[in-house]
Amino acid sequence: MRHGFRLSQFKENVQENLPLHGENGVATETRANDFVVFDHVQKSYDGVSLVVKDLNLTIAKGEFLTMLGPSGSGKTTCLMMLAGFETATNGEIRLDGRNINLVPPHKRGIGMVFQNYALFPHMTVGENLSFPLEVRGMGKDEREAKVKRALDMVQMYSFINRRPAQLSGGQQQRIALARALVFDPSLVLMDEPLGALDKQLREHMQFEIKHLHESLGITVVYVTHDQGEALTMSDRVAVFNDGKIQQLAPPADLYERPENSFVAQFIGENNKLPGVIEELSEGKALVRLATGELIDATPVNVTAKGQKTLVSIRPERVEFKPEMMPPGAHMIGAEVIEVIYMGDILRARLKVAGSDDFVMKMRNTLGQTKLSPGETIRIGWHPQDARALEPM
Ligand SMILES: Nc1ncnc2c1ncn2[C@@H]1O[C@H](COP(=O)(O)OP(=O)(O)OP(=O)(O)O)[C@@H](O)[C@H]1O
Ligand SMILES: [Mg+2]
Repeated sequence: MRHGFRLSQFKENVQENLPLHGENGVATETRANDFVVFDHVQKSYDGVSLVVKDLNLTIAKGEFLTMLGPSGSGKTTCLMMLAGFETATNGEIRLDGRNINLVPPHKRGIGMVFQNYALFPHMTVGENLSFPLEVRGMGKDEREAKVKRALDMVQMYSFINRRPAQLSGGQQQRIALARALVFDPSLVLMDEPLGALDKQLREHMQFEIKHLHESLGITVVYVTHDQGEALTMSDRVAVFNDGKIQQLAPPADLYERPENSFVAQFIGENNKLPGVIEELSEGKALVRLATGELIDATPVNVTAKGQKTLVSIRPERVEFKPEMMPPGAHMIGAEVIEVIYMGDILRARLKVAGSDDFVMKMRNTLGQTKLSPGETIRIGWHPQDARALEPM
């Protein structure tokens, strides 16, 4: 267990119970609502390569911030540095205005739920929850009240005398959540907490976590590589790749306005047409596609005429009936390769401007035209929905 710890060691550390220290070097630009600040944070495990490159991230009090990204992109490392189980190689991490670089984990007052942060198997549910309070020196009556309240929050009070082995995976995860909340932390970190659960339970727990976040007013930093989970639960999502934040934005912005090709590809389904910038002006790009057609697009991170680009278009923003097309729509020829029936939608794979993996999604309505493979059609989209991004 990579992030595991020994019980005796934990108890001993907590019992020191020293006040929070390490106020040296608090940067002055911290604003009142900035709760968690990563300030030029870098991390290297081997002293050679940086797995976190230059992280600057500010999380507001009460925010639900999700770190989303592919495996190995540095999400857990960031969370471990915030929790205090890893030290930053460079830079500063602040919590509520204080530099916590030198503060040990148990003095940061942070609740944690990890996929592999197991419950103590030899203790009952009640003892598991009581333990973090006991080591903080809390009296029995207060402990019992807090344990009851935390178990009620996750609707598990009736399981107080069971041992972890007598609980299902989902129930254990609820207890782990209750244990993270039992000492009233203002910040809770969760690393893939629902990874081991089946889809239905996972969705239920997403709802419960979101509800607890709202009702308790806590700040949550959540890690997942499930984009659906990130988009439904978060106030903002930080998309990680290669040790860097690629984009930090509310869910709808990430989907509607990806700022680079990685984000456009990683979030949702995306069509990409390679081309060259032919003309560029404020808010408008004219792109010559591989087969010579010229299309209008919205320039995002392209800066000069002659530059290569990938034009990104969401499949549901593509229309093939002229009367359905928004005013100013751009039209282009396409060949139908296959149509897949998916119940509520029909998914057509098309050949467009030389690319044969172009996808168009159509709602499966009563009057929807049937398309057959080999057929030539005209499709269109609004230039606003065609975003000129950098080549990958
Ligand atoms: N303790 C460690 N020692 C050495 N290298 C490590 C250690 N922990 C992580 N790494 C490396 O750092 C990089 C980032 O790992 P990290 O665990 O932060 O990724 P992640 O985004 O959480 O991935 P996943 O989605 O698979 O959990 C990876 O290349 C990983 O191999
Ligand atoms: Mg991880």
